[in-house]
Amino acid sequence: MIPVMRPWLGAEEAAAAAEAVSSGWVAQGPRVAAFEEAFAAAIGVSHAVALSSCTAALHLALVAAGIDTGDEVVVPSLSFIATANAVRYVGGVPVFSDVDGVTQNLTLATVEPCLTPRTRAVILVDQAGVPADLDAMRKLCAPRGIAVIEDAACAVGSVYRGQPVGAHADLAAFSFHPRKLLTTGEGGMLVTPDADVAARLRRLREHGMDVSAAARHASSQPVIERYLELGFNYRMTDVQAAIGLVQLGKLDQLIARRRVLAQRYQQLLAGLPGIRTITDPEYGTTNYQSFWVLLPDDFPVSRDELMRRLAEAGVSARRGIMAAHLEPAYLNVAHGPLPVTEYLTARSLILPLFHDLTEAEQDLVVSTIAAASRTGDSAGASPQR
Ligand SMILES: Cc1ncc(COP(=O)(O)O)c(C=O)c1O
Repeated sequence: MIPVMRPWLGAEEAAAAAEAVSSGWVAQGPRVAAFEEAFAAAIGVSHAVALSSCTAALHLALVAAGIDTGDEVVVPSLSFIATANAVRYVGGVPVFSDVDGVTQNLTLATVEPCLTPRTRAVILVDQAGVPADLDAMRKLCAPRGIAVIEDAACAVGSVYRGQPVGAHADLAAFSFHPRKLLTTGEGGMLVTPDADVAARLRRLREHGMDVSAAARHASSQPVIERYLELGFNYRMTDVQAAIGLVQLGKLDQLIARRRVLAQRYQQLLAGLPGIRTITDPEYGTTNYQSFWVLLPDDFPVSRDELMRRLAEAGVSARRGIMAAHLEPAYLNVAHGPLPVTEYLTARSLILPLFHDLTEAEQDLVVSTIAAASRTGDSAGASPQR
């Protein structure tokens, strides 16, 4: 079976992890600090704080932005559910915005109708790796005192107006889950240009302690720590960071390969009328974290039937980006009309794309879609909107 994603991990990552284990320091320590420094330099930000996941990063970003009980936070429904969940962790109210049909991201036109006097933040997601227009969103939000938090879970190495995604943000959260380009098994990073915010984030990830376990260990004198505020255990381990350092060194290669394969998919699929695919926005480039395709209304089989046929041919595809407002966990959350979100989530799917994907494997994916586009089916021909 061709998987939808296979991380590009090898002997170097294994050796780095083994070295961390043999060093005896496996929790958050020197390798986490080195990974943070290297990541900040790669993105072009002053501070990077390593965490146990991007979900943890989104949670801490909302804490750092001062979001509290009853505050409204605008989020796209069309996102992995962690984006909306993080708002609820701080007692906030997620307000679902629709998205643009081409980028699948929030825009001024979709967010503006969602703003109320209680709006305190917007979480701008770089969906599937496509950078969202952060500067435009800031122009809308800054005069109203609304924070903009970037959910860059999928966008490591994507480029926004000439700089890596995250370089412009007040707070940007990245994911290192194995579905992402750069993986540490589980893991996340929160970047910020603000030294005070970074210092607070480092405390918050470690139970609110005013001195890290690593610093206490390094001290020759006893250190009595204090707990300054409610904190969490959101630490990354040194084993993860050791893997992350190796992966970061491969990021340019990872992205270059993705872009070649994505372009090949685009050329092959261009022969099938009406199919649209993920593409670069005018102001930046995507890392092609996930390669989504959108089926036209007159495609003769349903999206789910197409996924079934792909599975039969040995291809593991995934539904497109989920819509949180349609999930049982959010059915009691009120929202305005979300027509584009509902259309995209019903009609799109994600094709296999990873470093070692071969041209023959890509050909199999595309020929299976082409065959479906010609033959139709009896089971699920009606388009799902
Ligand atoms: C847009 C988005 N936000 C947040 C997350 C959560 O990331 P993590 O699994 O690292 O917590 C994901 C993961 O898929 C994501 O795609």
